[in-house]
Amino acid sequence: AATLGAAAAGGNRYFGTAAASGRLGDSTYATVLDREFTMITPENEMKWDTVEPARGSFNFGPGDSIVNHAAAHGQRMRGHTLVWHSQLPGWVGSIGDAATLRGVLDNHITQEMSHYKGKIYAWDVVNEAFADDGSGRHRPSVFQNLLGDGFIEQAFRTARNVDPAAKLCYNDYSIEDWSAAKTQGVYSMVKDFKSRGVPIDCVGFQSHFGSGGAPASFRTTLANFAALGVDVQLTELDIAQAAPAAYAGAVQACLDVARCTGITVWGIRDSDSWRTGENPLLFDNNGNKKAAYTSVLNAL
Ligand code: XIL
Repeated sequence: AATLGAAAAGGNRYFGTAAASGRLGDSTYATVLDREFTMITPENEMKWDTVEPARGSFNFGPGDSIVNHAAAHGQRMRGHTLVWHSQLPGWVGSIGDAATLRGVLDNHITQEMSHYKGKIYAWDVVNEAFADDGSGRHRPSVFQNLLGDGFIEQAFRTARNVDPAAKLCYNDYSIEDWSAAKTQGVYSMVKDFKSRGVPIDCVGFQSHFGSGGAPASFRTTLANFAALGVDVQLTELDIAQAAPAAYAGAVQACLDVARCTGITVWGIRDSDSWRTGENPLLFDNNGNKKAAYTSVLNAL
């Protein structure tokens, strides 16, 4: 196949990218986006600070522009993200009681998912809820502090009620290494959700890697999560300096697991990346294919 999207489709997978609404008018950017990618994650446009900057006041314009672009070019959408401690407006963090926060959380999920109902293949319902400290426990946040561990379950149950056709995912970083406490914490949660019938369909592995690429156990991690009965995806792949072998290894880990249904890179050109100066993507600043692009295409 001649493009990432077509090559991935040969194995019934998608190949996606994060996209920014403000760049859709850049013709170099849009040309590569529409030629190569079959799934789009809005880089920032569906986050709480953009969507509900003040309580009860919703702004779907930036997200809509990406959804409309995707519809016009036959691309599917990953919704990112409904509940996250970061890019959260100050008014949510200032809520002081559980009942108010529970209602606000429920309303946010309901309004956002209703607006995009039927247009989103999968939602990152909860993003980055686990701590980095090796405890395997949840990270402190206004949600965790006021509602306790149950906020994640509440979010998934609400999400399922609003749009039963959308796949519901938990998404996080540094959960690629099977031996990491954070990985084990997320694994235990998914196992518990599955055993109790809490609705969860997929787990996203962000896959923001250093120059060495994925940990050796990544394939094992993906396979072990998939064995719980969820789909798995690489959702925000980027690799410092974009070593071709490191990219091929990360892609191969997904291809080796039947329930790894797709791969998304976190931006198109190096100049679009949030990792300034690390050149972690598949296209250079001019939109030309890098060596890592060819390596990924060949691996697919
Ligand atoms: C990043 C965006 O790329 C930046 O533009 C923004 O300033 C900060 O967020 N994990 C996630 C993504 O789930 O939403 C983050 O995206 C990168 C880390």
